[in-house]
Amino acid sequence: MESKIKIVQDKIAEAHLGGGKNRIAKQHSNKKLTARERIDYLLDEGTFEEIGMLVTHRTTDFGIEKEVYLGDGVVTGYGNINGRLVYVFAQDFTVFGGSLSETHAEKICKVMDMALKVGAPMIGLNDSGGARIQEGVRSLGGYADIFYRNVQSSGVIPQISAIMGPCAGGAVYSPAMTDFTMMVEDTSYMFVTGPNVVKTVTNETVTSEELGGASTHSTKSGVAHCTSANDVECLEDVKRLLSYLPQSNKEKPKNLAYELNDEVREKLLTIIPDNPNKPYDMHEVISGIIDEDSFFEIHKNFAENIIVGFSRIGGRSVGIIANQPMILAGVLDVNSSIKAARFTRFCDCFNIPLLVLVDVPGFLPGTDQEWNGIIVHGAKLLYALSEATVPRVTVITRKAYGGAYDVMNSKHIGADMNFAWPTAEIAVMGAKGASEIIFKKEINEANDPAAKLLEKEAEYADLFANPYTAAQRGFVDEVILPQDTRKKLIKAFSMLENKESVLPKRKHGNIPL
Ligand code: HXC
Repeated sequence: MESKIKIVQDKIAEAHLGGGKNRIAKQHSNKKLTARERIDYLLDEGTFEEIGMLVTHRTTDFGIEKEVYLGDGVVTGYGNINGRLVYVFAQDFTVFGGSLSETHAEKICKVMDMALKVGAPMIGLNDSGGARIQEGVRSLGGYADIFYRNVQSSGVIPQISAIMGPCAGGAVYSPAMTDFTMMVEDTSYMFVTGPNVVKTVTNETVTSEELGGASTHSTKSGVAHCTSANDVECLEDVKRLLSYLPQSNKEKPKNLAYELNDEVREKLLTIIPDNPNKPYDMHEVISGIIDEDSFFEIHKNFAENIIVGFSRIGGRSVGIIANQPMILAGVLDVNSSIKAARFTRFCDCFNIPLLVLVDVPGFLPGTDQEWNGIIVHGAKLLYALSEATVPRVTVITRKAYGGAYDVMNSKHIGADMNFAWPTAEIAVMGAKGASEIIFKKEINEANDPAAKLLEKEAEYADLFANPYTAAQRGFVDEVILPQDTRKKLIKAFSMLENKESVLPKRKHGNIPL
């Protein structure tokens, strides 16, 4: 028995060494944790159970059969995060650069299958040189097996990808099909083809960081939902993100215990400037409404004219979508529409109620937007909100103009409770633009056209630059005092807790992609 136990212990020790001490030291000198250190940090102490520690690759080409590492470059298993079951894989860069072999893929697929069957989140910690080059098509097949499972799991269990090293080639498509992609600054990058191929094909000279670093993907492409300064912060972000989510689409997120107390927030009274054309920071409105410090922003630096993120309101997990008047006056454009549509669909998949804060002057005009398909991209947000069946509440803080009024969770597209502040202006367009069109003749014929325009502007503003016409029609359920917003929202979301909504039977809708 003793000698048999020794064999097991030796094998475990060997597996824990991955690609060996030197490669572990190199990983550390590159400011990266190893796969096992990452898992240890991510999961509650002592909860990790490993699956497939002794798996090895089956390749015999290129002399690779002499290089055999227990676990084959990926650590897989399950454990707890804050007491909740999760499944996890962490690619081990010290073994063939974390590259994906047939057996490496089989290990990942095994835990993905379990996560789906059991109904618990799947977390992938990616750090890999892509397809194991020595394995050719077997490796490509392995990737496709993972992609297929990503899609089967989509909308059933939350899938989170942390990119903690290179992620090249087709490997980027698995993270792209998960719900969230979180990147570590300076040590991670994602691209379909690296700088060398780019140079050959397009003659562009670009660094890995410029092409696909965390900064690029969090500001330019929107591929990364969050970025963190280092591995530890990234893993903390994964844990925090998870705290707003349920285990699967069969559950609702857990409500935290909450007793009504500080609901009246006087600071909300002073945020909207007297001048309707002056910007203000919608983050201030958000922080005035939510439970203290509970906002977890997604896509913080991408399409900043709209804000999306998770929060808690009265202990309840709520997804927030909010126009940001500080950036481009909060206008809807291609990127902000896509950003908000994707977030809406995630929340709807996982039973997370939605709060939409509206201050929007309309869609951004111009050739750039039209040629890039603002019609179809704007339609994504309209479609996503129209089909969302989770509790949906709207607060119009100021402008709700034109088509953007309809799109931003109006009553007409299925919102449950629509509030407006007394500062709300709900109209087809701003008073000046509207007067110039409908009173054109009268203004041109006036002795003093400028004075006439001002007079007509005031007339139009008097009639429409307020929430009362909409409230008379019931398009707005209640005009509320800003300082009471939090109280109203806590009550509204509590009232909507058991909302049920049945959609027409169909295979799936055809969202304009
Ligand atoms: C096998 C690989 C490997 C790979 C790296 N290694 N990538 N082994 N297959 N894809 C090995 C190296 O030989 C090396 O082994 C160790 O991992 C570390 O690699 P280094 O190059 O020393 O590390 P570093 O300088 O940090 O560079 C990392 C890297 C680079 C940028 C990832 O290794 C690289 O460019 N790799 C190839 C990337 C790539 O083109 N992959 C295929 C993409 S196509 P030793 O023994 O020295 O430690 C693809 C198709 C998927 O993925 C399609 C799915 C649909």
